Amino acid sequence: MANTVVSLVSIALLCITTAQGRTNFEATPSSVNDHDFQIDGICQTAVVTQGYQCEEHEVQTDDGYILSLQRLPAGRSGQKADKPPVLLQHGLFCDALTWLINGPDEALGFILADNGYDVWISNTRGTKYSRGHRSLGSNDAAFWNWSWDELASYDLPAFVNYVHNNTGQNIHYVGHSLGTLMAFTAFSEGQVFNMLRSAAMLSPIAHMREVNSPIARIFADYYLAHHLDVIGVHELIPNGEAATKLVEGLCTTLKLDCSNLLAYLTGPNCCLNSTKLNSFLDHGLQSTATKNLIHLSQMIRTGNIAKYDYGNSLQNRQHYGGAFPPPYDFTAIPKEFPLFLSYGGSDMLSEVKGVQLLLNDLKSHVANKLVVLFRKEYAHVDFFMATNVKEVLYDSILSFFQVN
Ligand SMILES: *[C@@H]1O[C@H](CO)[C@@H](O)[C@H](O)[C@H]1NC(C)=O
Ligand SMILES: *[C@@H]1O[C@H](CO)[C@@H](O)[C@H](O)[C@H]1NC(C)=O
Ligand SMILES: *[C@@H]1O[C@H](CO)[C@@H](O)[C@H](O)[C@H]1NC(C)=O
Repeated sequence: MANTVVSLVSIALLCITTAQGRTNFEATPSSVNDHDFQIDGICQTAVVTQGYQCEEHEVQTDDGYILSLQRLPAGRSGQKADKPPVLLQHGLFCDALTWLINGPDEALGFILADNGYDVWISNTRGTKYSRGHRSLGSNDAAFWNWSWDELASYDLPAFVNYVHNNTGQNIHYVGHSLGTLMAFTAFSEGQVFNMLRSAAMLSPIAHMREVNSPIARIFADYYLAHHLDVIGVHELIPNGEAATKLVEGLCTTLKLDCSNLLAYLTGPNCCLNSTKLNSFLDHGLQSTATKNLIHLSQMIRTGNIAKYDYGNSLQNRQHYGGAFPPPYDFTAIPKEFPLFLSYGGSDMLSEVKGVQLLLNDLKSHVANKLVVLFRKEYAHVDFFMATNVKEVLYDSILSFFQVN
């Protein structure tokens, strides 16, 4: 075992150091012209092409990040939305395309627009169309100095305030994966939910001790994100050369058949269309901060849901006033707030035991304000890319929104 650890870490270091120059080079084009997104952005490439109206919006967070949102103000027929706004928040390594890639019949963004909702789709810091900052460039290390704590405390409130202010209405929220963790933590601290009507949480991320994705597990157990940070890789580009080599190295060392990497990361998705999957991957998986992965790795190793751990009591004291990072208390999520929660029996990131702990946190939630939908055959990506996701999941979300 010790040998395996040593070789994993050396592969990680070797791959990353050799690919590093290339990594920085790859990161440059999207950060040079942050305003070019009007031409090749999400609206033009993924929404207007399907015959829908689309507006590009921008919001600045309190810590200076300039984030993009897309709005679908009408259905395919051109009929203006007459129902409340909905905010769709993607997960790790993804962006707004999450809610559009499945096309008009099976993607939540289009389905909601066709059902009369005013659809807003957010893109968190570091993704392709949210790489602006009032003073930092995306090549600065400080640009990548954040974890999901900041996604919850800066990005989410910025999006919610912006949509609330623009529409004058309370909002339905839908999060996938990390987009659920952002919302649960904000709600547990009494933030944001007072501008929301309800929240639908798909593949929820909370208690991660039992995560059984082999790739996530190895990444966490061997502190790989920490090693990357130490050698100066602060932006992790998932299908950049560095990360690809790292994962290939892991597959070789551990003798895994990694022809289906996605399954090793997310679980055996039941219902993906390979053409659509490929166009999603062609768009590119999105960068995240190495610090964000360190934080998630801490959750996988400890099972705790807490703020980022600086790894020593001195620094924790400086940031938090105590030796340990303050925990988030999910039993404090407001009990009358309407929640819809859906999870999958094959999901290796939002695996069943962890979701049961989350449901236990919510056990005193007002009964008719918590709807739970379990899909035995679904894994992590099915929740937005399954070919049957409308029938299996989204129709239930529409019914849930109708009554909340
Ligand atoms: C990162 O941000 C924290 C505050 O969240 C700050 O204390 C620290 O100095 C920053 N580090 C860098 C390298 O900018
Ligand atoms: C709210 O929206 C109005 C116009 O829609 C804008 O002038 C104002 O600056 C916005 N306020 C905030 C806090 O975003
Ligand atoms: C997969 O998606 C493509 C592109 O949207 C579509 O043309 C094709 O019919 C789909 N295949 C199946 C088996 O559903």
